Amino acid sequence: MLYDTHAHVNENAFDEDRADVLARIHANGVSLYNEVGTDLADSRRAVALAQRHDWIYAAAGIHPHEAKHAPADYLTQLEELLAQPRCVALGEIGLDYHYDFSPRDVQRRIFDEQLTLALAVHKPVIIHDREAHQDTMTAIAAHRGALRGVMHCYSGSLEDAKRYLNLGFYISFAGPLTFKNASKLREVAAYVPMDRVLCETDSPYLAPVPVRGTRNDPQNVSHVVRMLAEIKGVSFEQAAQATMENGKNLFLQED
Ligand code: NI
Repeated sequence: MLYDTHAHVNENAFDEDRADVLARIHANGVSLYNEVGTDLADSRRAVALAQRHDWIYAAAGIHPHEAKHAPADYLTQLEELLAQPRCVALGEIGLDYHYDFSPRDVQRRIFDEQLTLALAVHKPVIIHDREAHQDTMTAIAAHRGALRGVMHCYSGSLEDAKRYLNLGFYISFAGPLTFKNASKLREVAAYVPMDRVLCETDSPYLAPVPVRGTRNDPQNVSHVVRMLAEIKGVSFEQAAQATMENGKNLFLQED
């Protein structure tokens, strides 16, 4: 029983066999997963997918890559999507200074506006932070612990992880936790309390060892959970159960 809290099965990589993939992963232990939107159209598709499958939930948001394309009324459109019962989070949102596909000032404005919306609609946030650790922390800390959410595919330092934990955030690990050179990330995972850790795939990207380099799908969350179990010195079943409970607590609780 696994909960992949972050995947993009609506991406083109799955156009040829999406229905087969969904049937297979659900039959093979993925009992819940979150389809995460990256712009308005993708968020709408995520909600529609979740409405067709009772084990899939959706998140709606504008990814930093897409920030410059957000229409003037994007907040109203997002709010409508977030009012759907199957839409459980605002995401993925954040800052990406690695690719800089949108100007940084635009990224920051769209990020801040969405954080404010999350508070207004009482939904958790799914945060993307790539090489923008300082500004991401500043934006989240500005809300003084009022936000709930997760640092998705965590790539920051142990010190930052401690700050996010103090702000009430969950820390989520993806395929990179299994990579050979990821000793720093494994130190972070060793530190994060068992009741504040999530696992995800970020499919179709970042396939974990031993399937690294292939198209990722939510079933591979098992490899991330297995690595987490090893780091924590617990059984696979214990790690699976803890991350399942944590995912339910963050995303599926009525507030
Ligand atoms: Ni993602």
